[in-house]
Amino acid sequence: MEVRVEKPEDVDAVRKVNIAAFGRESEANLVDRLRGSVSTLSFVAVESEQIIGHIFFSPVTIAGNCPDDLLVLGLAPLAVVPERQRQGVGSLLVRHGLNECAKLGSKAVVVLGHPEYYPRFGFVPAKKKGFGCEYAVPDEVFMLLELENGALEGYSGTVKYRPEFKECE
Ligand SMILES: CC(C)(COP(=O)(O)OP(=O)(O)OC[C@H]1O[C@@H](n2cnc3c(N)ncnc32)[C@H](O)[C@@H]1OP(=O)(O)O)[C@@H](O)C(=O)NCCC(=O)NCCS
Repeated sequence: MEVRVEKPEDVDAVRKVNIAAFGRESEANLVDRLRGSVSTLSFVAVESEQIIGHIFFSPVTIAGNCPDDLLVLGLAPLAVVPERQRQGVGSLLVRHGLNECAKLGSKAVVVLGHPEYYPRFGFVPAKKKGFGCEYAVPDEVFMLLELENGALEGYSGTVKYRPEFKECE
């Protein structure tokens, strides 16, 4: 299995992976909307020429005490086809994706997700670092990872996702 950058011809397969993993079209539609409107990062896990997993990052903004040019990315969605879940594919995608985000100059990544899953990659509740989420969610599900030690030191604010997330139904 390899993890690589999504290619234009992967778009349909990526849709199918998201629909299979989430059992609905919302996340697949969100990816399609974001891809068309903003600079994003998208990686796929490929095995025997089949796409079995996908991870996606899009920029977030921070309302508060934070420089405008600080690049923070939101991880969403992450999807592995049901028959290949719990075999390490998601972890590979997350680790690979975070490395690429750091290479691109992103200082931090936020995620709204399973609080039992993301801490293994270093994510901590964002509130501990002084950051909240624009959505009313429990503190433990909104997490943050600094890609450079202390990158967010002294900053705080409310994280806002792209408007395309609001259309996610
Ligand atoms: C969540 C998901 C991406 C994880 O990918 P994966 O390849 O199955 O995960 P990995 O094999 O890398 O890691 C397995 C670990 O994740 C945990 N895990 C998997 N799915 C989980 C879930 N829904 N909630 C909490 N933990 C989960 C497992 O317990 C396992 O932990 P262990 O190693 O301590 O036993 C995948 O299960 C998936 O696509 N789920 C449906 C879509 C989804 O919920 N996406 C994430 C939105 S935040």
